[in-house]
Parts: sequence; C-alpha cells; structure tokens
Amino acid sequence: MARLLTAALLAALAASAFAADKIDAKAGKTLHDKQCVNCHVQRWGGDGSAVYTRADRKIKDATSLRQRVAMCSAQTGAKFFPEDEANVAAWLAQQYYKFK
Ligand code: HEC
Repeated sequence: MARLLTAALLAALAASAFAADKIDAKAGKTLHDKQCVNCHVQRWGGDGSAVYTRADRKIKDATSLRQRVAMCSAQTGAKFFPEDEANVAAWLAQQYYKFK
C-alpha cells in the first residue's frame, strides 16, 4: 500500500513538473486578449490592464492569481483548460504582477 501511494505521489510530482515545463506565457497572452480584456477595458479604460496595476489590486501572490484566473474563466464561460489557466496566470505574473 505504502509503495502504491509513493508511486502515485511520484507520478503526480512528475506530472506537475512536466506541466511547469510547458508553461507558455505567450499562448496565455493570446487567450487573455481574446477572452478577458473586453470587460476590463469597459470598466478601467485604456487596455484594461489598470485592473492589474491599480494600487489596491487584490492579487498578491502566484497562488491567488492562479485561483483568480480559474474563477474568472469559470464565471465568464471562457472554458480554459488547466494548462490554459496556468499560461494566462504566467503571462499576467510576468507582465504585471512581477511577484517577488
Ligand atoms: C464580465 C467582466 C469580466 C471578465 C470577462 C473578466 N474579468 Fe477579470 N475582473 C473583472 C472585475 C470587475 C474585476 C475586479 C474585481 C474586484 O475588484 O474584486 C476583475 C479582476 C480581475 C483580476 C484581479 C485584479 C487584481 O485586483 O489584482 C484578475 C487577475 C482578473 N480579473 C483576471 C481575469 C481573467 C484571466 C479573465 C479571463 C478568463 C477575466 N479576468 C475576465 C471583470 C471581468
């Protein structure tokens, strides 16, 4: 049993490492521009990015960014796959959030 669990854990770790290798921020930007920008622009003007750079922005770390992207994609019917969410989050982090 313990052996099985270890094997499952290792497989899961390998899978997440694999996913991290495949992060594609550029693909994330494309998805983001298509599915997410309109609404932010309507509300914040310009290119909509003020929502990510305003002084009282809500997102403070990579985990909550990832959660927020997942939530938005569910709410807006963007129907992102988990790898899409990871790519969009990666692009937002790289472009705007620049978490330390
Ligand atoms: C229907 C309108 C709408 C759409 C579509 C939308 N958003 Fe948003 N988004 C908002 C609003 C409104 C807020 C501000 C919420 C707040 O202040 O709590 C927000 C805030 C955010 C934030 C947090 C900004 C901060 O405070 O740091 C992120 C990240 C975000 N959106 C990502 C996305 C992504 C990714 C998508 C596409 C899947 C998306 N949004 C689509 C309306 C939208």
